[in-house]
Amino acid sequence: MDMEIESLLRPPESHMPPYPAKVITVATGKKMVVRQVDRKAVPTLLKAVLPTLQIPRDYYDIVGVRLYAELLGWYRYRVRDHYCLIGQVDGYLMGIVNGRMYTPEVGMSYHTLAIERGLTVGVHLFAAKMEHHLEFLDQNEVWITAESPIGFRRWMIEYGLVPKTDAQHELGGASFYVLTKELWKANKARLCVGDRPCPEDLLAAAEAEIKLPSEEEVREKILGAKRRQAK
Ligand SMILES: CC(C)(COP(=O)(O)OP(=O)(O)OC[C@H]1O[C@@H](n2cnc3c(N)ncnc32)[C@H](O)[C@@H]1OP(=O)(O)O)[C@@H](O)C(=O)NCCC(=O)NCCS
Repeated sequence: MDMEIESLLRPPESHMPPYPAKVITVATGKKMVVRQVDRKAVPTLLKAVLPTLQIPRDYYDIVGVRLYAELLGWYRYRVRDHYCLIGQVDGYLMGIVNGRMYTPEVGMSYHTLAIERGLTVGVHLFAAKMEHHLEFLDQNEVWITAESPIGFRRWMIEYGLVPKTDAQHELGGASFYVLTKELWKANKARLCVGDRPCPEDLLAAAEAEIKLPSEEEVREKILGAKRRQAK
């Protein structure tokens, strides 16, 4: 009986082509592996997101708590057609992006969270998720909303996204914006970098373990020494 009810609580699953891993050389010269993870990674990712719930600076708390809920919802089979991509350097988690297929044609961008800052990890991972929606899931457009001024600068202004007023983004909130295939083609060479295939040894090392900084290190990376004092 319980399993019967559980099957009613679980959403149906659409076919979603996988995101092929790539490697990006970041500003330190290190190689960041960008790859898709499955549900098994969620408990580890939640540990990394948890400290952000207590960091109001730059809106990490609201983005963190929503991302936490989305990942948990996916883990518990309560979100439909969700995916998650991560960036790792030497196995260490640098950032997380997620979203879902709203319809076969429309992608719903959820969140971008950079744990390592100052290396435009967020820029790279956001571009990777746009790439996933428009090239691998082969959707027509992505719906994007911003919850922070940094996010607004990075996505709405940088990509010149198109405002949309006749619908609501799934996250609610402010009017949202659309990345169309045409805009993507115009911006891709400038904003989306990385090489494929990801070298096998790098990918194997990334898949072997998602290493996490300690809770204190996450706070330090996000706030930075000067910023922590000013908090
Ligand atoms: C938005 C976000 C993904 C962008 O990631 P990113 O491109 O890697 O950018 P960073 O976070 O490293 O830096 C953003 C700016 O803050 C500065 N900054 C703030 N705190 C910093 C820190 N502790 N260390 C280094 N730089 C810091 C950077 O210098 C940079 O300035 P710039 O815009 O003039 O280049 C990331 O800031 C983030 O996760 N923010 C919280 C969640 C969020 O707002 N998500 C987007 C929702 S729409």
